[in-house]
Amino acid sequence: MKLFNHNDDQRPLDQEPEFNQFIDAAMSRRHFLKATGAASTVSFFAANPVSQAIANTMPSTSTLMGFNAIPISTADTIEVPEGYQANLLISWGDAVNSDAPNFSQSNDSNAQAMQFGDNNDGMTLFPISEDRAVLAVNNEYTNNEYLYEHQGKNISADDVRKAQAAHGVSIIELKKSNGHWQVNLDSRLNRRITAFTEMEMTGVAAGHALLKTNADKSGRKILGTFNNCANGQTPWGTYLTCEENFNGYFANTSDAKLGDTYDRYGLKKEDWGYDWYKFDPRFDMSNEPNEPHRHGWVVEVDPMNPNSVPKKRSALGRFKHENAALVVNKDGHVVVYLGDDERGEHLYKFVSKHKYTAGADSNRDLLEQGTLYVAKFEGREGELNGKGQWLELTWGKNGLTPENGFPDAASVMIFARLAATQVGATTMDRPEWVAVHPNNESVFCTLTNNKYRGVRESQPINEVNPREKNPYGHIIRWNPNQGDHTADSFDWDIFVLAGNPDVHKDGLLAGTDNINKDNLFNSPDGIGFDLAGRLWIQTDGKYSNKGDFSGMGNNQMLCADPETGEIRRFLTGPIACEITGLTFTPDYKTMFVGVQHPGEDLAPSHFPDGGNHIPRSSVIMITRKDGGVIGA
Ligand code: FEO
Ligand code: CA
Ligand code: CA
Repeated sequence: MKLFNHNDDQRPLDQEPEFNQFIDAAMSRRHFLKATGAASTVSFFAANPVSQAIANTMPSTSTLMGFNAIPISTADTIEVPEGYQANLLISWGDAVNSDAPNFSQSNDSNAQAMQFGDNNDGMTLFPISEDRAVLAVNNEYTNNEYLYEHQGKNISADDVRKAQAAHGVSIIELKKSNGHWQVNLDSRLNRRITAFTEMEMTGVAAGHALLKTNADKSGRKILGTFNNCANGQTPWGTYLTCEENFNGYFANTSDAKLGDTYDRYGLKKEDWGYDWYKFDPRFDMSNEPNEPHRHGWVVEVDPMNPNSVPKKRSALGRFKHENAALVVNKDGHVVVYLGDDERGEHLYKFVSKHKYTAGADSNRDLLEQGTLYVAKFEGREGELNGKGQWLELTWGKNGLTPENGFPDAASVMIFARLAATQVGATTMDRPEWVAVHPNNESVFCTLTNNKYRGVRESQPINEVNPREKNPYGHIIRWNPNQGDHTADSFDWDIFVLAGNPDVHKDGLLAGTDNINKDNLFNSPDGIGFDLAGRLWIQTDGKYSNKGDFSGMGNNQMLCADPETGEIRRFLTGPIACEITGLTFTPDYKTMFVGVQHPGEDLAPSHFPDGGNHIPRSSVIMITRKDGGVIGA
């Protein structure tokens, strides 16, 4: 069976599924929840007293963080600090409207289109009132081994449609009753955006010849969004969903070579095992060579208008977008920091042409026009800090000219990766999320890991990517010149090099000083700040708990004090999951956290339903038993 991990090299499954029969998952889950006597609390979230005893012995110095760190876990549970609790909000396949059937692995595409999508990732809560809010959640990808009863061995047309319906974005209204947030299935705002929802291309690339297909001669009307990784939000109330590994859905059934621009985006003869091209001809590049140009963008969605047409924003460039960290600069320009998550790719910044005006309708067009930049880092030899520059990606400047393969302004955005190389951008160790500090101008970015660092000629070791093969990842921080996010220079340093001081006694693989035996982790990915300036760090790393990764356990979420550098483990996830996606209620007393792909590659997880049930990606809610602010 062919099924590949979405972010790694192609990794065929090496074992046949062991699951034979499943009882009706939805039915049993209801019984299970009833038996526990709690509407949405499941046993996976039980506190662990032994763990807590160990945690209480850990040192604590930060005044920003008021909780006791927890130890690692290899259990199939969510663990949180003493005094905290985790409840389930929604899982893949749960209804998003009152007509939807209950979850079953045998649900068809029509059912899936009315259910919560799979592999939830980045998300934003949009408050409406004290007891109403809308949650927009990305649904990044699907796992054939769980999506289908046949585990992907015999894909049909409806299977493809079901997978496409499991991708995209789920928008759900939440209501608070008896102090608990839950999904309001009757809300008119509930919506699924999928890989076949109609969208509009905007900005300089809209209508370009490279975006025209047999089905869309205008080059402006695009069907769908998929591999929606992380996210962003705007002060004018819209949601930004970022298209990451779009290449994995395309195949080329002809023998004709597609060329360099396809190679640079990882578009190959074979797809990653989704098989969409077999039943949806737009995913066969021999039919539709321009369809891949219509994906790899940031998409702006109005979560308060279920009839609105999502807008793909070509001014933010086409690459494997991780998230979109938007900040309104002091002068009113909107700045969006953007990571391109692939080994040796780049870090970008968009600056809007026009300025933000609170309450103005014109804000809705701010992402339509602006200037894209890419980062070039310079180091101080032997130090983990230095200076950097933002290089402008504007047609006609910096060698972005027809003789270098850029015939017009649209081509610079459509092939932003090639433009970045042309101007001399620094190749990075997989830029994942970017987060801007709420109370100053510092900006943080996770560089998750990179086995090609120091191995491939194009990815030499340098100060900002200082470790050969970088197995653990790191987080960098920069301060724009004079606190101006539109400035073309910045100072940077490394906030943390994750590492393992137990395995590597010294040197860079031991990690920076803020890594110790009590907070080991690898592959930082999702990050976000709360209002007080606590930096939350989520991991998508190796969970073998062996060798280089011993003492790290399952993927987790940590909390950092940006001032002192201290990092404490706050949450551990179930088996073979990734923790990704975070958002808060306005009072910061409820934190929504994503558990993605528990049981990946058929690892033995049954989260969250327990028993024999297949694992399901889920959104959980963290609260304090005393009702206080999370992390304080
Ligand atoms: Fe979807 Fe780079 O993580
Ligand atoms: Ca990620
Ligand atoms: Ca990742």
